[in-house]
Amino acid sequence: MSAAPRVAVVGATGAVGRIMLEVLVGRQFAASEIVPFASERSAGRELPGVGVVAPLREDTITGFDLALFSAGGATSREWAPRFAAAGAVVIDNSSAWRMDPQVPLVVSEVNPDALGRIERGIVANPNCTTMVIMLPLKALHDAFGLREIVATSFQAAGGAGQKGMDELAAQVPLLHNAREQLVSAGAAAIASIEHSIHAAPLAYNVVPWLGSPAADGYSDEELKLVNESRKILELPDLRVSPTCVRVPVMVGHCIELHATFERPVDHAGAIAALEAFPGVVLDELPTPVKYAGRDEVAVGRIRADPGDSHSLNLFVVGDNLLKGAALNAVQIAELLVARGLLRRHLAATA
Ligand SMILES: NC(=O)c1ccc[n+]([C@@H]2O[C@H](COP(=O)([O-])OP(=O)(O)OC[C@H]3O[C@@H](n4cnc5c(N)ncnc54)[C@H](OP(=O)(O)O)[C@@H]3O)[C@@H](O)[C@H]2O)c1
Repeated sequence: MSAAPRVAVVGATGAVGRIMLEVLVGRQFAASEIVPFASERSAGRELPGVGVVAPLREDTITGFDLALFSAGGATSREWAPRFAAAGAVVIDNSSAWRMDPQVPLVVSEVNPDALGRIERGIVANPNCTTMVIMLPLKALHDAFGLREIVATSFQAAGGAGQKGMDELAAQVPLLHNAREQLVSAGAAAIASIEHSIHAAPLAYNVVPWLGSPAADGYSDEELKLVNESRKILELPDLRVSPTCVRVPVMVGHCIELHATFERPVDHAGAIAALEAFPGVVLDELPTPVKYAGRDEVAVGRIRADPGDSHSLNLFVVGDNLLKGAALNAVQIAELLVARGLLRRHLAATA
């Protein structure tokens, strides 16, 4: 086997998968070969500059060192253990393995040492909204001791994959004259527009629901923010009060955070901690359009809570397809290689 790892990208035709392929190339990830996989629908299709899409079968998944998955939870549950059994370390973007105690849930700048225990051969990438807030929250936690967050997200259509973006793009022209349509026909103008991916028509609208019903009126997307934040930051008692909202933006999630700390927060100290943290940039007016296609997580509107010296308000923006998914997956792959944590490295030193 050559020194450079052989890499499978599962879900290579999807919104995240296509970006993972671009990021691997853009960061000059040294691979002996990159093989794209997708569903039977796409098998045999040529991806320009990448290769022919392979189908997932027992005879096609052998000989890989790394398998980067973004093909949904059902595919990950079925095929990630098979890739792992065949010798690969799987880095999975779905929610299938995130809360498994034997699977590390990793943000590359926040808890890279969790990669020291990969018991199932699988590493999980967090949900894209959780991912984006982990960087500033870790910076502030190290400085002041995080106790509680109230998080309200403004999530892009692209968080629901290619179909999520296609649905929004199809709705916009139907409302090209939205102001008049809305003024004359009222809510009926928007309400009659077809939708199946988002919980309500999204064009010119704001939809306060993402995901499936979970407990006590919360959606599963909201509970991911609670559970994944606690696991990544290793704060099992962290209080998290989440609200997830879909907005008519193609790419880029925003989160308004009200964070409360053990120790009083000084504004200058908070700025210094955020500025020093890798992957974070400060921006007075961060917007998803400005940060689409950018690696950094932007933090702005940093304000002391006028009624509580232990609390801070801040607005966080990150590209859900990049740091929220593809970039972090590739950064984990880079860490695994740099730290000698691929299965064949470990076998050689056992
Ligand atoms: N979009 C985001 O911002 C984001 C962020 C973080 C995590 N994620 C997670 O990443 C995963 C992919 O999301 P996405 O947004 O890229 O979705 P997407 O655009 O719908 O792409 C889905 C990909 O999965 C493939 N696929 C579907 N069923 C399959 C099967 N049975 N076997 C093999 N491949 C199959 C599709 O192949 P075909 O083209 O052949 O159908 C496509 O390549 C999801 O688990 C999602 O929760 C997404």
